[in-house]
Amino acid sequence: GIPKSVKIVEVGPRDGLQNEKNIVPTAVKVELIQRLVSSGLPVIEATSFVSPKWVPQLADAKDVMEAVRNLAGARFPVLTPNVKGFEAAIAAGAKDVAVFASASESFSKSNINCSLEESLTRYRLVASAAKKLSIPVRGYVSCVVGCPVEGPVSPSKVAHVAKELHDMGCFEISLGDTIGVGTPGTVVPMLEAVMAVVPVEKLAVHFHDTYGQSLSNILISLQMGISIIDSSVSGLGGCPYAKGASGNVATEDVVYMLNGLGVKTNVDLAQLMSAGEFISKHLGRLSGSKTAVALLRI
Ligand code: HMG
Ligand code: MG
Repeated sequence: GIPKSVKIVEVGPRDGLQNEKNIVPTAVKVELIQRLVSSGLPVIEATSFVSPKWVPQLADAKDVMEAVRNLAGARFPVLTPNVKGFEAAIAAGAKDVAVFASASESFSKSNINCSLEESLTRYRLVASAAKKLSIPVRGYVSCVVGCPVEGPVSPSKVAHVAKELHDMGCFEISLGDTIGVGTPGTVVPMLEAVMAVVPVEKLAVHFHDTYGQSLSNILISLQMGISIIDSSVSGLGGCPYAKGASGNVATEDVVYMLNGLGVKTNVDLAQLMSAGEFISKHLGRLSGSKTAVALLRI
């Protein structure tokens, strides 16, 4: 059977916005996060403490974090690629952080400018600094089924990186199909390999919807016992260092499917859609959520 309740990790303000060419004003980001909190989402990835040269859109990380740090009702993890980012995040009031490794060497190089092993060394430093402050660390594995440069990625590689992140103390491991090429045909063997080394209750799935496979991949993940799902309001997003990658699966579509399955999420779909409408209007485009488009037409 599938889990009775699911934790949705909203990544729109971070993964969703990081690829936007036009700078979104800090006040708009903060209002988006406030609206997402109102919808009942328990975790909202707020921003990244990365190099502003690499991700100019998130150069206001400190201001966003300081504005949302005391909002009640949700946790606001932020991405930290190294100790410098971790220290800046903590100074701005972050109480949760995330590190992000890749199952492919080429993507590690293009995304964080170092090899996989170097990144794990950096992340061990972040994890030990976080442990001293009792800050929970989430670990991402990118390119879990395919890499924009190397093509197919083997499940054993993914399992290796997931285990390294788990061993260094990450409380949760998010498995990212960065370029959205996976189908249940490739996702199932990948999950089987990872579940052999990390307990299933610590695993999250993070699908980008480039090929329209996200909901199928989520359903199969639920059937395998996964109960943490990453998604992005309005299907915003894409990674600036993964050419051709489209947005994450839309949170509205995930909630609609989970409601249909009778799986508890605690998220109010109407409030969530209003958050989606707010950011879509600001960006001047139609929502990437089919559910939002359908329901708002009625
Ligand atoms: P680098 O150029 O190798 O860094 O970048 P460096 O250590 O040589 O330092 C160069 C400059 O960056 C220095 O400044 C540092 O101080 C500064 P300068 O002296 O030139 O003025 N710097 C920083 N500034 C702010 N915050 C920091 C920081 N660290 C160094 N934390 C680095 C290495 C990792 C910093 C860079 O490559 C980077 O920021 N990469 C982030 C890329 C990124 O955010 N990608 C998107 C997120 S991953 C993703 O989307 C996938 C995911 O969604 C899952 C999935 O879909 O699969 C998570
Ligand atoms: Mg992503």
